[in-house]
Parts: sequence; structure tokens; C-alpha cells
Amino acid sequence: MNFDLTTKIGVLGGGQLGKMFALAAADWHVPIYALDKSKSFPAGVAVQHFTEGDFKDYDTVYQFGQQVDLLTVEIEHVNTDALKALVAEGKTVHPAPDKLEIIKDKGLQKAFYHQHDLPTSSFQIYSDAAAVQKAIVTEVLSYPFVQKARTAGYDGQGVAVVRSADDKLLDAPCIIEPLVDIEKELAVIVARNENGKVQAFPLVEMAFHPTANLVEFLLCPANVPDEVAVKATEIAKRTIQAYDICGILAVEFFWTKKGEILINEVAPRPHNSGHHTIESCYTTQYEQHLRAILNLPLGSTRLKSPAVMVNLLGHPDYKGNVRYEGVQYSLAMEGVKIHLYGKEQTKPFRKMGHVTVLNDDLATALTIAKEVKEQLKVIAK
Ligand SMILES: Nc1ncnc2c1ncn2[C@@H]1O[C@H](COP(=O)(O)OP(=O)(O)O)[C@@H](O)[C@H]1O
Ligand SMILES: [Mg+2]
Repeated sequence: MNFDLTTKIGVLGGGQLGKMFALAAADWHVPIYALDKSKSFPAGVAVQHFTEGDFKDYDTVYQFGQQVDLLTVEIEHVNTDALKALVAEGKTVHPAPDKLEIIKDKGLQKAFYHQHDLPTSSFQIYSDAAAVQKAIVTEVLSYPFVQKARTAGYDGQGVAVVRSADDKLLDAPCIIEPLVDIEKELAVIVARNENGKVQAFPLVEMAFHPTANLVEFLLCPANVPDEVAVKATEIAKRTIQAYDICGILAVEFFWTKKGEILINEVAPRPHNSGHHTIESCYTTQYEQHLRAILNLPLGSTRLKSPAVMVNLLGHPDYKGNVRYEGVQYSLAMEGVKIHLYGKEQTKPFRKMGHVTVLNDDLATALTIAKEVKEQLKVIAK
């Protein structure tokens, strides 16, 4: 399929990733169509054509697909049967629907790494809490372990660290993994186009919020030995090749205390761990996704400046119509770039925006990011 900058691109999902993708596409005036439940969602302001509807519904996705040449996603949990029907009719879908089906199910995803000799921890599949309970009683399974819902988890919502009988089990089809002794969590975003060219962004390091299981600060470049960066990058490239998908793939890793580099999970779309590329890299992750799905030359991923990204999460004590406090103070500091997603309602720990802090010195960027986190509050009216 030959694409050009007039190719009509449909995006399933109208959240912040769709918004930032559409803003990148707007630089080249590529027509973007988005599908999500409400035009008031983040991408609503950034796309020329917004269809209100459910991207999990077969007919809605199928109809939406009729008006575009190429489809992509900003979320995995979409109706892949409709996407397969569209592919059968000659539409292009990146990432391919059969690969989306693997990725959106953590059980299939883990099995994929084992089949392709890609490093990840061991795992077992269980049908529900009762089955996990039975495995504990019969000593097939022992504490501690990590339980993950196979589908529909996000931002740590479908993940339970189970250390003893006091910890609650998730009651859903799930996988069980060993609790990994993590030195650092790392991520590499790689891109691949139809010509098979592969390009990686610089390795990032994710520092997690202690209770919300969400990334709190993200540092680029990651502060790790060179060989760790080289190895993670090499595994990320092998992973996108094994999946044989076009577009970008964010690969999350655990660098363990023992020195192993294990794949945790992937996302075949723009990712939280690549927000900083908007300001810090020659090419942003959003532009790279666009280049990759249109089979254009991939852009240089060179880092222009070290960067720290902080997610702006809804304050734990507030729920309702959003209000931002501390914007003036934060903007007065050097290198502070604020991105607000335009979500009308805040709730505890909801991702409402992010801030990227640029500085020649990564440690200084982190100090400023911590200050921003203190001062910039997402509360309610
Ligand atoms: N096996 C594990 N051992 C230790 N910590 C884990 C393990 N799996 C997940 N975690 C922690 O939980 C976080 C969320 O898990 P993840 O599988 O990435 O779910 P999500 O889809 O919500 O991002 C990880 O980033 C990590 O901090
Ligand atoms: Mg994750």
C-alpha cells in the first residue's frame, strides 16, 4: 500500500495519546479521524473528525473504518474482530489486529516471549481467584507472587502484589508471576516501518509512585551502565521484529538486582514513557509512529537534552471538576513544559497531564521536577 500525507488515518481512542498523536500529524496536515465515547475527551480538540462511539463495539469500529485508509490505536482494548474484517476488505491496520490480540492478553503476551526466546519471567495461567487459592492450599504456588488480570488492566489497576494470605486476590482470568527483585524499571520505545527499518529511542528509567503503582518520574537518559542500555535496546528491537508489527512499540523492562533484563510488558502505540520526546528528541514518539505506519523514513531519535517527565495525577483527596494550582510558579522555572490533557473530571491518581523538565544536567532536571510535583496540584473546584 502506498501512503502519502493525504492518507486518512483513523485512531481508535480519543485520550491524551490520541491527542498528542493528532497534534504531531497536524504538523504535516495529515487528516486524522478519532473514535471514542465523547468529543469532550482529550483528542477532541486536536482532530478534524471525531466520531462518538465505543471502540469495543464491532459495528461501530467497522463503520468508523470505512471512512479512512489506515487505522491505528492509542489503546489496546479495541474490537479486533472488526479490525480483522477491515483488513480483509483491504484497509491497512497498524499494529496488526492479531498482534493486538496477543498484546492485550497478558497470558498470550507472556507465552509469546517464551516462544520467541525473549527474556521474561516465568508465569502460570489461572481462571480466577478460587483457582489461585487452590494452588496455594495444595502448595503448587507459594508467597510472594504477583497476580495480573489477563485483560483490561492499566496503570497498575489489574496488578496485585500478593505477599501473604492477608493480601486480596483479583477474581478474574489471570497470570501469576514471581515477585521480581527490581533494581530499576526501564523502557525503550522502538519503531518499525513496512520496509522493516527499526529505530530505538534512548533508554528511559521509570521511578514509581510508592502506593499508586504509577510512574512518578521518568528520566532520560536512564542512569544505568552502558551495557544495560545496549542490551535493553537490542531486546526491544528483537521484540518488535518478533511481533512483526509496524508503528511504535514501547517495551517495559525490569532490570533485576541479579543483573537480568526481563521484558515486563509492551504497548504497540505511543506510551507514557515517551512523552518527554516531544521536547527532548529530534523526533517525537508521535511523529515516529506516524512515520512508521505511513512507511516513511524513520526519524532520528537523538536526544537534544536530558529530560525528566512527571505525570500530573489527580490529587488523592479530590474528585470533580478539575482545577490546577501552582501553574504560575511552575512555569517560572527554567525548562518546564506543561501538558494538560483537558479531562474535565479529576479523581485520585487519574492521569490529567504531564510536565517535562529539560536541563543539561539530569540531576538538576529531577530537582526541578520534584519542585513542580510539589507545587502543581490537580484538585477540584
Ligand atoms: N513480577 C513483578 N515483580 C515485581 N513488580 C512487578 C511485577 N509485575 C509488575 N510489577 C510492578 O507493577 C507495575 C505494573 O505492572 P504492569 O504489568 O506493567 O501493569 P500495567 O499494565 O498496569 O502497567 C510494574 O511497572 C511494576 O512496578
Ligand atoms: Mg506497565
